[in-house]
Amino acid sequence: MSKIALITGATAGIGEACAHVFAREGYNLILTGRREDRLNKVASYLNDKYNVEVTAMSFDVRNRAEVIENLNELPAEWKNVDVLVNNAGLSQGLDPIQKGDIDDWETMIDTNIKGLLYVSKVVSNWMIDNGKGHIINLGSIAGKEVYPNGNVYCATKHAVDALNKGMRADLLPFGIRVTAVHPGAVETEFSEVRFKGDRERAKKVYDGFEPLIAQDIAETIWFVASRPAHVNINDLVIMPTAQATATNIFRH
Ligand SMILES: NC(=O)c1ccc[n+]([C@@H]2O[C@H](COP(=O)([O-])OP(=O)(O)OC[C@H]3O[C@@H](n4cnc5c(N)ncnc54)[C@H](OP(=O)(O)O)[C@@H]3O)[C@@H](O)[C@H]2O)c1
Repeated sequence: MSKIALITGATAGIGEACAHVFAREGYNLILTGRREDRLNKVASYLNDKYNVEVTAMSFDVRNRAEVIENLNELPAEWKNVDVLVNNAGLSQGLDPIQKGDIDDWETMIDTNIKGLLYVSKVVSNWMIDNGKGHIINLGSIAGKEVYPNGNVYCATKHAVDALNKGMRADLLPFGIRVTAVHPGAVETEFSEVRFKGDRERAKKVYDGFEPLIAQDIAETIWFVASRPAHVNINDLVIMPTAQATATNIFRH
């Protein structure tokens, strides 16, 4: 029986790249994201290319009832999840705290913290029942440092960092591995989402240096997931060579 990876936010960026890498490695996949058409395209492409089984489930991780219902509806054999990649997440806005949009704050908190928790609660119980599993949480360098105007996004990723440590401690007796991967600048749809569709502004984020691409992170996540069962990588920070901190990027 093939292994199973559940990847949240697989319609774009890092999540989509992870789906490709895990399919290439022969995993059957459960892919989630809100944009159903994109999710179905990724699913059927991977099914054709790698001959793996793919279940696509379109739901919003912020909606607690939807998360629980959708995941619980999976047939028993699909609950045998080996790897959960908690990837769905976003940033909204880049404003000083006094000017921040409270709706943006709530979107980030609801997605990056609460959504991750809803999914993890369900899947960690499956992993306990199955006696195995690996949870890989997408943090960020925004979870390791705080940069001007990053306030709430940084707070949500600091929360992911704390939850990663908490999960690792709580799931220790069950032999479940827990890892956080913290990327620096990765060129995906992330900045376009942060700037609400302003492509020009998003593009400038990556001007003058070579950022990471989603594939770099997906291959790193695969490295983490493919270590021998007795090895757990707790925490992994990965940046472009041209980046030293969130605000120190060497641009030509
Ligand atoms: N790019 C970077 O520089 C960077 C750096 C550090 C950390 N990260 C983290 O890496 C993760 C992936 O980001 P990315 O760069 O790949 O961004 P992206 O290209 O914008 O992809 C984000 C993914 O998350 C999904 N998502 C967002 N909100 C969701 C919701 N409410 N419910 C379900 N799915 C949702 C999106 O799917 P739908 O829109 O279809 O729902 C999409 O598939 C995030 O957690 C992000 O914080 C990114």
